[in-house]
Amino acid sequence: MHVVLLGTAAGGGFPQWNCWCPPCRVARSDPHRAIPRSQSSAAVSADGARWFLLNASPDVRDQLGRLPFPAPAGVRHVPVEGIVLTDAELDHTLGIALLREARRLQLAATDAVRRVIEDDSRILTVTRAFADVTVHELVPERPLGLCYGDGTPSGLRITSFPVPAGPPRFAREERPAHTVGLIVRDERTGSSCAFVPGCGGLEDALVARLATTDLVLFDGTFWTDDELIGLGIGERTAREMDHIPVSGAGGSLQRLRSLPSANRVYTHINNTNPMLIQDSPERALVEQAGLQVGFDGMRFTL
Ligand code: MLT
Ligand code: MN
Ligand code: ZN
Repeated sequence: MHVVLLGTAAGGGFPQWNCWCPPCRVARSDPHRAIPRSQSSAAVSADGARWFLLNASPDVRDQLGRLPFPAPAGVRHVPVEGIVLTDAELDHTLGIALLREARRLQLAATDAVRRVIEDDSRILTVTRAFADVTVHELVPERPLGLCYGDGTPSGLRITSFPVPAGPPRFAREERPAHTVGLIVRDERTGSSCAFVPGCGGLEDALVARLATTDLVLFDGTFWTDDELIGLGIGERTAREMDHIPVSGAGGSLQRLRSLPSANRVYTHINNTNPMLIQDSPERALVEQAGLQVGFDGMRFTL
């Protein structure tokens, strides 16, 4: 299985257009010390040519330009066979509407996520005016085989599981499984990847689940719980925003450092997170714990 991190920043990207926090300043003045990043999304493929997106970010157009696939024979070619969603947040779903030029699209989403993009953000409804969109229901804990656009099985199988989080602020109702983590398993090789870009807590059961995978892509949004409060740009803690902070007691670094997976990588990193600065003490702590700070274009073959 091939995995490409297409975007590794949280909503707003890095640097964020209206932000002059310390990491955003470094990303503008000295991008070698803090590499700019687009908004969180990943792509998985069994054959390295036909890809499934894990979330569709507002930066999807540029991101697809960096995805490897053979030169198409025809005039039109859609390099994406399907899109699997973890939630209905704007940074994970606006890209669906931007792919409307594909005449056909397949999505996999939980019933709760489908309802929010259909009835609340209406991203699905708008996209359907341009393209024929099929939605396959992701039922938590029930593996779903991903098929290519022509209906043949890809050999990749997705299992979703609810993670601690609130619904998007534009959702009118809170329904079960509005935010999930994913495990992608390659049936042929047995290799697996966990994709959990938004997660408010790391209970033992979740840590045990992540321990069964070869690659863990995990929520690296905030370094500290009071990050936005300390900068004077927000009132809510990281945990109140459903993102377990990386550092501190009970933080994700402490919980993930003992996992056996060879590759443990942070993604969905907010522009305020000091670990984005390569020579920062925070980055050194992540690397000393055996984890990596994800960057756009990072690739894995499992
Ligand atoms: C989040 O990650 O908490 C959401 O995407 C919030 C947002 O950026 O709208
Ligand atoms: Mn987000
Ligand atoms: Zn910033």
